[in-house]
Amino acid sequence: MKIAIHKSTSGFHQRWIAYCEQHNIPFKQVNCYANDLVSQLKGCSMLMWHFSQNNPKDIVVAKQILFALEHTGFKLFPDFRTAWHFDDKVAQKYLLERVGAPLVPSYALYDLNSALEWIEKAEFPKVFKLRGGAGSANVRLAYNRAQAKKLVRQAFGKGFSNYDAWGSLKERWYKYRLGKASLKEPLKGLVRLFKPPLYAKALGREVGYAYFQDFIPNNDSDTRIIAINGKAFALKRYVRKGDFRASGSGVFAYERELFDERCVQIAFDLSERLQLQCAAYDFVFNKQQEPLVVEVSYGYSAEGYDSCPGYWDRKLLWHEGKFDHEGWMVGSFFSKVE
Ligand SMILES: Nc1ncnc2c1ncn2[C@@H]1O[C@H](COP(=O)(O)OP(=O)(O)OP(=O)(O)O)[C@@H](O)[C@H]1O
Ligand SMILES: [Mg+2]
Repeated sequence: MKIAIHKSTSGFHQRWIAYCEQHNIPFKQVNCYANDLVSQLKGCSMLMWHFSQNNPKDIVVAKQILFALEHTGFKLFPDFRTAWHFDDKVAQKYLLERVGAPLVPSYALYDLNSALEWIEKAEFPKVFKLRGGAGSANVRLAYNRAQAKKLVRQAFGKGFSNYDAWGSLKERWYKYRLGKASLKEPLKGLVRLFKPPLYAKALGREVGYAYFQDFIPNNDSDTRIIAINGKAFALKRYVRKGDFRASGSGVFAYERELFDERCVQIAFDLSERLQLQCAAYDFVFNKQQEPLVVEVSYGYSAEGYDSCPGYWDRKLLWHEGKFDHEGWMVGSFFSKVE
């Protein structure tokens, strides 16, 4: 049985191919955007595709293609359970609430009056988020009622672009000053003030809902745990100076001692209950120092984890040394299907 792998130089694809070659796993590269995809898939019954939240083509059609194949008998990575809620924090609220996950208390409102009523009773600050986005781009603080009201009026009025051009320019400037990006980045940000990226056009405007979370204060970082088939590894991301947001800050740490193993346990438990092939969970800690889940995502930037010094197994035993997490995806997928 051959695995079809989407042909792409980005994401996990090249590492999946390297693993298949090393382990003599038969594979074939296919172009998931080609009109004749179904013919290309002849001879395969499995497909692996690392679709992304900011690739305009993937936004238009990745989930539709994947689920059409799964509906008709294909085995997928990512499969339906793993992928349907990807880049959709609103969907994740219901999914995680249903299984009693320790989710940061989250609120979704679908009309202006309900939102205004909710704001009157709510305590502030709260975190306001769009359902999609990465690197903290669509995450902000509503300090008080007045700011929250302004945000919900926009949410039920003209809505929000998926690309915050000023926020992105500021972020690029911050990265440049930190020495983590060349001057090209802020210059690109300037151009983007007038020419938003294609993915933002493909996504359209975010309108018709307002999503808030309780603001969990005093976190100098967030904890990301990635669980794949009974193994887990971790990344700590520190917040930007003068900001509460960690993701995308570019300041990381990996040492085992920095991680609270309760997060690892929760990640394993949730992945098993929800049957997720691969899941990255972001955690923050409340006043009682209990870990709370912020969001979950099947996809992540592979290179960001190459410096992890080891991983935990399902019994929370630590295995020191380098490991091949993209290989775990292929290995577990192939052996389960076989
Ligand atoms: N409810 C919250 N309370 C306190 N801090 C929060 C909360 N939600 C998010 N954060 C902080 O903001 C950051 C961005 O939030 P979140 O992870 O929801 O956004 P994202 O853009 O989807 O990030 P990612 O790149 O991880 O997908 C987190 O890394 C965390 O540091
Ligand atoms: Mg996150």
